[in-house]
Amino acid sequence: MTDYFSARRTLVDDYLASLAARTGAPAVLAAPLARSLASAGKRVRGILVIAVGEAFGCKAEKLVPAAAAIEMIHASSLILDDLPAMDDALLRRGAPTLHREFGEDLAILSAVALLNHSYGLVAQAHADLTPRRWPMQQVLQRVVDAVGWDGTVAGEAVDLHMNSAGPLDFDTLEFIHSRKTGALFVAAAAVGGMLANIHPAPLQRIEVFAKNLGLAFQITDDVLDVTSNPETLGKDVGKDEQRLTFVKLAGVEGARKLSEELVETSMTAIESLGPAAKPLRALAVMVRDRVR
Ligand code: IPE
Ligand code: IPE
Ligand code: MG
Ligand code: MG
Repeated sequence: MTDYFSARRTLVDDYLASLAARTGAPAVLAAPLARSLASAGKRVRGILVIAVGEAFGCKAEKLVPAAAAIEMIHASSLILDDLPAMDDALLRRGAPTLHREFGEDLAILSAVALLNHSYGLVAQAHADLTPRRWPMQQVLQRVVDAVGWDGTVAGEAVDLHMNSAGPLDFDTLEFIHSRKTGALFVAAAAVGGMLANIHPAPLQRIEVFAKNLGLAFQITDDVLDVTSNPETLGKDVGKDEQRLTFVKLAGVEGARKLSEELVETSMTAIESLGPAAKPLRALAVMVRDRVR
């Protein structure tokens, strides 16, 4: 399975690199864009697009532009998340954060550019497909909803404006995590499935899988923030002190256990999919056991 993942990661990396070479952006913007597109992300969300699409019979190469698009959305959210006005982070993917290297102005513009072009890539991937079960509007709407005012943006807003001195409550935390991280996992899986002409019933199961996996992913992120180090993670640690996290709510062991339970739930959701879903199960195990 390691080979499966590294091959798909390479597909996404290569596509992002080729895109960086042909953005047509002026040099001043091309540099931060290229830095962001080439940065060493794990590409979990891109791999999720491809693994779901392949599980439903679509060829990987048809899924790569959409996988790259989801990674661009993720990258744009990280650029914004790292800004001084938000988490004020120093390190991302083992390198200085984009605003530290290129300034806040170009970092913000890069994030907006990445987000903007991501929608075009999803639309193009859909337009290149025959036959098509799902209308383009429905595919794009999944992405819009994941990012928008009830998606990542909502999660980030509430995350930043939660009073950490206030009562810790599970529902608020679930609200934040399911939006700031879970929503893009769900969109990634849905887009992969829809490009593979998935039927509505398995799409629903895939979305349950991705929702639980995304939540588990963010809970593990909370754990790693207190148990790991910048060398391993490639980003700052101890940034969640002011934030409401599952570690604060349940302790490190409690959070780990919750993450494991969510991964179990995600696996149960795709039980009926059989051998084609083997990479998805392996991805869930990877999320459960990740150390970076
Ligand atoms: C980091 O995501 C932000 C979270 C939602 C936890 P990743 O851990 O997937 O970051 P990269 O893409 O590998 O850098
Ligand atoms: C970032 O959340 C997740 C986004 C959706 C932007 P965090 O602030 O918790 O993640 P890291 O630790 O900076 O990657
Ligand atoms: Mg944050
Ligand atoms: Mg952050």
